[in-house]
Amino acid sequence: MKILMVCLGNICRSPLAEGIMKTKLPENFLVDSAGTISMHEGKHPDKRAIKTAANHHIDISNQKSRPITKADLEVFDKIYCMDIDVYEDVISKTRNEEQRQKVSLFLEAAGDHKNAEVPDPYWGDMKDFEEVFQLLDRGCDAIKKQILT
Ligand code: 4NP
Repeated sequence: MKILMVCLGNICRSPLAEGIMKTKLPENFLVDSAGTISMHEGKHPDKRAIKTAANHHIDISNQKSRPITKADLEVFDKIYCMDIDVYEDVISKTRNEEQRQKVSLFLEAAGDHKNAEVPDPYWGDMKDFEEVFQLLDRGCDAIKKQILT
């Protein structure tokens, strides 16, 4: 199974989600991430995201930001979006119902309330990054359970 985590810039939330999910799923699962904007294309994750992951013994420093492509909507089986704007942007790129069915809001898919969003820590501080890490870690546990059962 192929899983794609998506946020706006692909330098804060979705790189963390990718790194966390990779530690939880067996190696035959492919986990990747992308952004809905190409502004940070080719850049490594935000230093605060790298540090937060490292505090939890996860190395995301080699990841590079990339924008989501139309091919991603074909190739990936599950596409998890960090907030509603991202979700709507990704849905607008889908071309058929099969593709639309793959796309969900990350926290909603994890069993949180409808329209639950992972807040953007970009304009925040290390405490915000840690809170996002905790949200993503719990969400990844819930999604892992669904996927593996
Ligand atoms: P992310 O955070 O979507 O979690 O990667 C952001 C990264 C960059 C910007 C906004 C949010 N930006 O405005 O450049």
